[in-house]
Amino acid sequence: MEHRSAFYRELKQIGFQELQESMSRALGLALMVAYPDGRPLTEPSNLSPFCALVNSSPEGLARCAASHEASARAAAGAGEEIRRTCHAGLVHLAVPLQVAGETVAVILCGNVALRPLAKEGLAGLAREAGIDPEKLVSAAKAVPLWTEERLRAGAGALGRVVETLARLVYARQEADWKAAALASLYEFSQSVSRSLEVTEVARLALENVLDLTGATSGSVVMLPEALGFSAAEAAATLESCDEFRVVPPSEVVAAVERETRAVHFNSRPGGATPEERRPAVALPLMAGGKVTGVLTVAGRPKGAGFAEDETAFLTTLGSGLGLALENARLYSSLREYYLSAVRALAAALEAKDVYTRGHSLRVARWARACARVLGLTSEEQEQVYLAGLLHDLGKIGVRESILLKPGRLDEEEIREMRDHPVVGARILEPARFPAAVIAAVRHHHEDYCGGGYPAGLEGEEIPLLARII
Ligand SMILES: [Fe+2]
Repeated sequence: MEHRSAFYRELKQIGFQELQESMSRALGLALMVAYPDGRPLTEPSNLSPFCALVNSSPEGLARCAASHEASARAAAGAGEEIRRTCHAGLVHLAVPLQVAGETVAVILCGNVALRPLAKEGLAGLAREAGIDPEKLVSAAKAVPLWTEERLRAGAGALGRVVETLARLVYARQEADWKAAALASLYEFSQSVSRSLEVTEVARLALENVLDLTGATSGSVVMLPEALGFSAAEAAATLESCDEFRVVPPSEVVAAVERETRAVHFNSRPGGATPEERRPAVALPLMAGGKVTGVLTVAGRPKGAGFAEDETAFLTTLGSGLGLALENARLYSSLREYYLSAVRALAAALEAKDVYTRGHSLRVARWARACARVLGLTSEEQEQVYLAGLLHDLGKIGVRESILLKPGRLDEEEIREMRDHPVVGARILEPARFPAAVIAAVRHHHEDYCGGGYPAGLEGEEIPLLARII
């Protein structure tokens, strides 16, 4: 976890090693600090001449390292202080260091003896590790003899100092992480609000989530009932093959919906090695207190899972995304109502003028296709479609005797017929249609060479959408 490595980096930077050196001299104990998995976090300090001699042989060094590692792992596993005798017969204490309820390191202190070292053991060690036996026996005589109480008191004092220091570092870093998480949340909400299209919002959110978590696959599944009209799904993978796309199985979706919380699952149950494993987490998307969809994230380096704090962060993102998707859904249904109202207006006209039945819809479709080929924006394409549907709306104001007259129209009738673009524009003005739509309706009978009506505009004086119609 990136948080954890930053924590260790800062511990080292603030002079953890130097503090250990001076504490070990003051206490008269050898000290080192290990990661919970036993790897050394600091160099050992204040080694006795005996330990230094054993460490000078490769075999002795390897035995010491293995002994420290085993003690550190055992203490981390047990979650409490343990006392051990090392391969050379000295004793040490392994004290787990806990911050925020988790073991973050283990302090190893000791390399003293509770009783004089046995000669037979020393002879065996000298032989197996290739150390001069006389030198080893003489160094062993200088190993301090401590009582267990004294050892525990020394280790206790040391543990409290180191733990306080680690807590300070952790608290400072926690403030940094929280600030970074807030900044990410802000960026995320900015990013998903760039669109009002349900699938586009989901796509933007996925890009962001993969970026923030370092995950490689993800998906957004909207629950059909919440969506109102049809199910929607967006999935993304940064991996080389689509096999890694992660859309949760229906039982996981059902569990998220039922329990309203994150559900962890294995997205590739057949994965045997860490590289093949794909732990995944499915999170509820919430709107109005209901689960409206499921956000799923999967695929970390070396098959790593999602820690509790990351899951909590992703759950917060899920709430924000749920609202953004709900907004997009509401917008899209409002737009549907609006288009239905426009189609109803066009239908009202066509009920009166049988000659033009189907004409408005055909004009709208062709106009939108033209706009698309011309490279107009999606907003302009929609406006020309609306203008196409409504361009002859003003004919509602033309008498049926004129509209349906089989022969030629007289001058008076032509004047009335030619009023229909202006009448149509006037009908639309109070309904707050976009200005470009009203202008297209008003000018759809202009002629590119001039000579059209109502304004006799020519060339590019005619609004673009009117020219298309
Ligand atoms: Fe017309």
